[in-house]
Amino acid sequence: MPAKSKSLATPKQASSDKHLYKLHGLLLPQAQHKEIRRFKRLYDEPSLHGTKVWRSSAVLMDYLLQNPIKKGAKVVEIGCGWGGLSCFMAQQFNARVTALDADAALAPYVEFVKQLNDVKRVTFQAKRFEKITKKDLQGVHTLIGSEICFWDEMTAPLFNLIKRARAAGVKRVLIADPGRTPFLKLVDLCDEKFECDMFGHSIKKPWKTEKFILKLDN
Ligand SMILES: C[S@@+](CC[C@H](N)C(=O)[O-])C[C@H]1O[C@@H](n2cnc3c(N)ncnc32)[C@H](O)[C@@H]1O
Repeated sequence: MPAKSKSLATPKQASSDKHLYKLHGLLLPQAQHKEIRRFKRLYDEPSLHGTKVWRSSAVLMDYLLQNPIKKGAKVVEIGCGWGGLSCFMAQQFNARVTALDADAALAPYVEFVKQLNDVKRVTFQAKRFEKITKKDLQGVHTLIGSEICFWDEMTAPLFNLIKRARAAGVKRVLIADPGRTPFLKLVDLCDEKFECDMFGHSIKKPWKTEKFILKLDN
């Protein structure tokens, strides 16, 4: 973020704006929101599809409401985009969340979503899958991600990261996806090496949609 950055809108200003919507109690901006448009003018634009909160996040949130994690757990979200899922974990489960993304340009977007929801327990860090170490994963209960395996070259780094996570003692890995080929290859690799599960999960609101969830327990 450039040093001359302007401060964000106050929560009151922001929540009275249009182009906000609610997802499982979380307030989220649409791409047309004036604050988001301001970020695009002020900063580098997100370059790796971190352009909205993707629908697989909403499906994973719904799954987590039905299958909650223990309160106060340490969570890492990989490829967090605008941080919707991270803020949801903090809001619903009082989780301490590290929200990681390769794209440093997403920092103000995550801050905005945190501010909209008065979430304090999410920390954004610019970090690629490949650079997440076993040390980063010490004490982490759940590793989550949504729509993060969309190019062929993402499959191997994600598989290696899952291996590191298990070696570091991470209890659960959950990755949601529309079912793209690189994700299905990741599921196959996990299936060969570990016990894992992949299943469909659907929601009816705010959109009717079904996605897939890869789940590994350790
Ligand atoms: C389709 S967006 C999904 C964002 C968010 N998870 C969601 O569901 O709304 C993919 C995200 O993965 C991030 N990403 C892509 N390659 C990455 C990598 N090698 N390491 C970490 N993050 C990466 C992008 O910057 C982007 O934010």
